[in-house]
This record gives sequence, structure tokens and C-alpha cells, in this order.
Amino acid sequence: MKKILVTGGCGYLGSHAIVALQLAGHEVVSIDNHVNSSPDVPGRIQSITGKIFRNYVVDLCDSHELEKVMVAESPFDGVIHFAAFKAVEESMSAPLKYYQNNLIGLLNLLAACKRHKLTNIVFSSTCTLYGNPDSLPVHEGCELRPESTYGKTKWMGEEIFRDAAATGEFKVIALRYFNPVGAHPSAMIGEFPKGVPANLIPYMTQTAIGIRELLKVNGNDYPTRDGTCVRDYIHVCDIADAHIVALEYLLNGQMQHNFDVFNLGTSIGQTVLEMVQSFEKVNEIKLNWVFGPRRKGDIIAMYANASKAEKVLGWKPKHDLDSMMRTAWAWEKQLQRER
Ligand code: UD1
Repeated sequence: MKKILVTGGCGYLGSHAIVALQLAGHEVVSIDNHVNSSPDVPGRIQSITGKIFRNYVVDLCDSHELEKVMVAESPFDGVIHFAAFKAVEESMSAPLKYYQNNLIGLLNLLAACKRHKLTNIVFSSTCTLYGNPDSLPVHEGCELRPESTYGKTKWMGEEIFRDAAATGEFKVIALRYFNPVGAHPSAMIGEFPKGVPANLIPYMTQTAIGIRELLKVNGNDYPTRDGTCVRDYIHVCDIADAHIVALEYLLNGQMQHNFDVFNLGTSIGQTVLEMVQSFEKVNEIKLNWVFGPRRKGDIIAMYANASKAEKVLGWKPKHDLDSMMRTAWAWEKQLQRER
């Protein structure tokens, strides 16, 4: 059993990673200030795993409070760093807020890791770094050109970790997620979008349950097989499992380099229309949708070459699209029962 620090442990990805960590037998301590998560998440996780963990309601930008946690809880064997702001549109209207939160938090964490000799780090990164790719599927060596401030904070985060690891003091794996969707099969944890969801699946499930009137499919004149954008949707539980695999790879001393990056996707591109059809078919429900205009800044098509994660880490996704759609819908229905 290893002791793992998870930042952002009550968020969408963090909560699923904690379930996977606990089920793999690890002890977890989390830091999450609930700025974009619910305080009842630790209880929800406990109802799945039967295990408790301590969550410190601390902002990583507050280095004094962070140090108190480190003093109280060290030594750790590894850290998974999720905590960050992630709304693309907001990052363009409030760039300083994003640089401040995502980079100061990361630097404070790294400084604390150095002080407490916490060397094994898994960093939550994103396929947004690839911008509009020249060719598909995208592999880890493709050019990085993030367009949003959010994407730039993740790119800078990777660079900071890369430089820190080059000193030999840290071993870091950055995981670049494609589009995480779905929820834990228990329907006890999932995504809690605040306000009107920007992402496709929460908008879809909220439309199906009647919170939103109509799903707008953003654009039908893209150069794709049905005119709508293509993405690589991946089950959040597969993403969670990849963190355990990456962490164990670090802890077992298998990592040849001090810094490495891996794409996490299914390598399958789905159009928005295919997603709508799949949701309707799997859940036997009719979605209210229309074509709307293109969304500004949307990438036409993006899907992963995730063969490096399979070859090096031995990770590959287990869940199919049906499972993504079923669990996303079960989670939305669970939220409605609780309202
Ligand atoms: C977005 C973020 C990305 C983040 C990812 C997390 C941008 C540019 N990128 O990616 O940084 O990592 O979410 O999942 O925002 N769509 C509709 N109607 C809707 C909502 C979405 O048609 O109501 C379409 C979009 O136009 C897009 C596809 O569905 O074609 C997927 O959209 P979304 O879920 O927002 O993900 P991304 O844009 O890929």
C-alpha cells in the first residue's frame, strides 16, 4: 500500500481516480478547496469503496496552508495533480485568473514536493495542447499549439514539470486526456457542471432530463463524414485507471526518463451526430436537438494515437461508447433523484 496525495480529489476526474486508487489498495489524502466540486464527494466515494480519506479544504495558491498539510501528512509516495480551472471560454475572458490559479498552484505544489522529497508526480494534461492538428490521429510528438489560455496553462505546466524533472529531483508523467465522459457505474460520482454546461455530454443528459429545452449541434458543414465535429470520447473510469498504471510505473522504478507524456484516448473518432444517435439508442430515449451555428474556436476533428500508453504502460481503454452513454445517463438520473 502506498500513500498518495491527490490534488483536486473531489472533481470529476479526481474523484474517479481516488476510487481506483482505493480499490487498488492505496491510501489517499486529497487537497480540494471545492471551488468547482461538491463537499459531499468524499462521502460518495466512501459509499463505493467502503474506505474514507482525508480531504483538506485548501487552495494550492496558499503555500502556507499547503505546507501545513505536507507537514501533517508526509511522507507521500506519489502525487497526482488534477487541481486546476478548466473552462475554455472563461479562460479567454479571465486569463490572469487562469494563469494565477493553474500556475501558482502548480509551482507551490512542486516547491512543497521538493521540500518534502516527494519525487513521483502524475500531471493532468489535455489534448487541447495539439490545437488544430495537421494530421490525424495525433501522437505525442505532434506540434503543440494550444489556442486557449486554459490550454496554455496546461502546456506551461508540462514545461515546468519537464524542467523540474531534468534536474533529476522528480519523475513526472503527464497524461494528455482526450474527451473524458461517462460516470462511475455506481452512479454515485460523476460530473457536476456548474451553471449551463459547455461540454456535449452534460448538455445532452440535461436536455434528456428536461433541465435544458434543446441540444444545439454546433455546425453541420464541417468537412467530416456527416458535417459535425469529430472527437475521441473516453470513459472517465478508463482515464482513472491510467493514473494508477502511470503511478505504479513510477513507483516501480520502470521509468527510463525523468519526464514522459502519454495520450489517453480510444483512438476512435465519433461525430457529434453519432454521439446523439448512440445516446438515443443505448438509453432508449428521444433527444430534442437541432443544428445550430458553428461554435467559435471549435476544432474540426481530433482523435488519439494512444499506442504509446499501451506499449509502454500496458494501458488500454476497456469501456465502449455504450457504457459511456449508459453511465452518463444513469448519473444524470441519480442527480435528479437527489434534487
Ligand atoms: C472541450 C475543451 C477541452 C477540454 C474538453 C473536456 C474547447 C475548445 N475545448 O473540448 O479543452 O479538455 O472540452 O471534455 O472547449 N457540442 C455541441 N453542442 C453542445 C456542446 C458541444 O454540438 O451543446 C459539440 C462541440 O461543438 C464539439 C463537441 O460537441 O464539436 C465536443 O464538445 P465539448 O464536449 O465541449 O468538448 P471539446 O470542444 O472537444
